[in-house]
Amino acid sequence: MADTLTITDNRTGKTYEIPVQDGAVRAIDLRKIKTDPDDFGLIAYDPAFTNTGSCRSAITFIDGDRGILEYRGYPIEQIAEHATHLETAYLLLFGELPTRAQLDEWTRVITQHTIPHENIKKFMDGYRYDAHPMGILLSTVGALSTFYPDARDIFDAQSRRIQTVRLIAKVPSIAAWAYRHLTGQPYVYPDGDLSYTGNLLNMLFKGTELKYQPHPVLERALDVLFVLHADHEQNCSTNAMRAIGSSHVDPFSAMAGAIAALYGPLHGGANEQVLRMLQEIGSVDHVPAFIKAVKAGEGKKLMGFGHRVYKSYDPRAKIIKKTADMVFAVTGRNPLLDIALELERIALEDEYFVSRKLYPNVDFYSGLIYQAMGFPVEMFPVLFAIPRTAGWIAQWEEMLLDSEQKIARPRQIYTGAARRDFVPIERR
Ligand code: CMC
Repeated sequence: MADTLTITDNRTGKTYEIPVQDGAVRAIDLRKIKTDPDDFGLIAYDPAFTNTGSCRSAITFIDGDRGILEYRGYPIEQIAEHATHLETAYLLLFGELPTRAQLDEWTRVITQHTIPHENIKKFMDGYRYDAHPMGILLSTVGALSTFYPDARDIFDAQSRRIQTVRLIAKVPSIAAWAYRHLTGQPYVYPDGDLSYTGNLLNMLFKGTELKYQPHPVLERALDVLFVLHADHEQNCSTNAMRAIGSSHVDPFSAMAGAIAALYGPLHGGANEQVLRMLQEIGSVDHVPAFIKAVKAGEGKKLMGFGHRVYKSYDPRAKIIKKTADMVFAVTGRNPLLDIALELERIALEDEYFVSRKLYPNVDFYSGLIYQAMGFPVEMFPVLFAIPRTAGWIAQWEEMLLDSEQKIARPRQIYTGAARRDFVPIERR
């Protein structure tokens, strides 16, 4: 059997044979299907890229029907159990798990680069007192390109390496300072004795004590959440990172765009919306009425449910549920958990959600954990962006080194007016 697809164009009666490789046809092969020599040729029309492969990637594998997620071949459940976020970032970026010596060196270099340039504090002061920390993060990451003009040298491996280190090291510091700005507290400098997540907790929550001691359970829970959020193949923000990066701009500018994409309520902003939704529902008795309103299409969605790729339980949500138990044992149970559990119970039995294969996604329970740990809801998408930095950079670098990639530039089907002559303003 040939690995080809035979297409008959019923407009012309002509038949074409198109190669099939790795379960895909190349959209460019459709171009030769024409009605006459002047015809531009067939294009693939795929708004929102629901069935378009934009790249080959060796980083993350997802089987949405079976609820499988793997980084570089390792199942997410195993990574979440055994690895730290920095170890996971190394795996995503360099393709293999680090040896002890490699991890020590990686941790040392990241720790060394955690302090942002002093001027960043000055312009952070300029944001309004109630500025959303995600807005601060995205603009400050974009501004890093002005501090590191060497980042433009994107085809120099050494330069890419240093920008990677800078981003992974400084994003938590900027995120924490954005939070301190929101809460009107002085900025806390990184503590090099602490782990990646321990230090983040220090920069967020340090008070008058001389040395901040993160709670080991909360430090580890945050690490697990970071591992789960580190990459997720070609989602909206990763696609933004790749598309912006395909113009060969520096990685700080590209990542500002990726953070902006993540900010939206349909993507990384969903965890914030889940909490707002649970607060709005208010009590378990109001859950049936809320579900009814969602089903009636009254402009409400069940936030934290549904996924473009997962058509079964999101494997990350399963791990998060376990992590929630770990955290609540320390912080006390989040009272909104009962509402969330009741929403899940009803939705998983309801024909509307079952027939559409809508299951809880990563954002459904993460917000409850973050809230129990003391984060305001505005910080939730920021806590998604910090670990996703590793995935974005890995995907950006893979795109740059892929000889098949070019500047991202889709086609369109023009639906506007036919050619017409300009009308001077006095005759309109
Ligand atoms: N609540 C109610 N109905 C829903 C939901 C939901 N959360 N999600 C999808 N549907 C319905 C949708 O209305 C449609 O119904 P119909 O066929 O009758 O028109 C059907 O399910 C298919 O949905 P879709 O909008 O075509 O699916 P999509 O792949 O375009 O959207 C999604 C995926 C994640 C944007 C969507 O499920 C959603 O908006 N969920 C809520 C927001 C959310 O939790 N986002 C986080 C995603 S996971 C983490 C991340 O990527 O950041």
